[in-house]
Amino acid sequence: DWTPEHYVDSSVVALQRTIGPDDQVILGLSGGVDSSVAALLLHRAIGPRLHGIFVNNGLLRKEEFESVLHSYQGLGLNVTGVDASEEFYAALKGLSDPEQKRKAIGRTFIEVFDREAHKVEGARWLAQGTIYPDVIESVSVKGPAVTIKSHHNVGGLPEQMNLKVVEPLRMLFKDEVREVGETLGLPHHILHRHPFPGPGLGIRILGDITPEKVQLLQAADAVFIDALHQTGLYEKVWQAGAILLPIHSVGVMGDERTYEQVVALRAVTSVDGMTADWAHLPYEFLADVSNKIINQVRGINRVVYDISSKPPATIEWE
Ligand code: XMP
Repeated sequence: DWTPEHYVDSSVVALQRTIGPDDQVILGLSGGVDSSVAALLLHRAIGPRLHGIFVNNGLLRKEEFESVLHSYQGLGLNVTGVDASEEFYAALKGLSDPEQKRKAIGRTFIEVFDREAHKVEGARWLAQGTIYPDVIESVSVKGPAVTIKSHHNVGGLPEQMNLKVVEPLRMLFKDEVREVGETLGLPHHILHRHPFPGPGLGIRILGDITPEKVQLLQAADAVFIDALHQTGLYEKVWQAGAILLPIHSVGVMGDERTYEQVVALRAVTSVDGMTADWAHLPYEFLADVSNKIINQVRGINRVVYDISSKPPATIEWE
């Protein structure tokens, strides 16, 4: 019978057999469930010879970098946090096209990650939090729990540094990954986190990106996400967030007319993200979030709720 405890035990043995006694292993951490569970499993097997690299691309949620880094350190992981926000903002400057923004973010990530990876002496392995659905999506061949294959998400790093790839979760489905994570003591707030796109808020700020817009969106998004947690609605939706629209609209504050930005709230129910329905959140909840955002976030005077389902709309706006 499959149990998370057996999986942990047998993976630890397999990893210890595969990874040489002096080999160092590099892993990119994102704050997501998969990379976090992969890190804990490898840490269980090889301790501080696992070197986690957690990059702040300046497009994470409010205080996410600090809080997730703190959680990782609390778990005893050997993690380096790299704040590369300015580098990402520089690469994004003036770009409005969604695919160009994605490319700039991806390219910058590879540059930053490569630079950090090269600092790890004795690095022989690149670990990845690849899970089974990722495997069947790609053309790679099914293999044992510990396999060696080349990978493309991290650019040419494996070839350049002559690294072998290790993917300890590649036979697991998402719910199994969560069970393994729970067994390894991953905190609830990471274990049950909504999916979050790699390009982050970069594709939730429509049009070009500036640090000021990021701050504005982070503030509005935090009000929404905090309210979902406080009302117990967070775990009833599959994904949620705020989107900063590239338009201004008229409002009134006291005797003054305002001309400020609009935020759209998006929350969906889904099984796998392939199709999704807009979440039927209670009107009182939406009213409360709207009031809080408009009162607390200077620069936003209008909040709208996205009632489009996928298909034909997508979950993200870009
Ligand atoms: P869409 O918008 O296509 O999103 O309905 C489906 C799921 O994919 C996520 N998403 C991304 N994830 N890089 C990612 O890592 C991306 O460029 C990207 N675009 C969309 C989205 O958040 C949702 O979970």
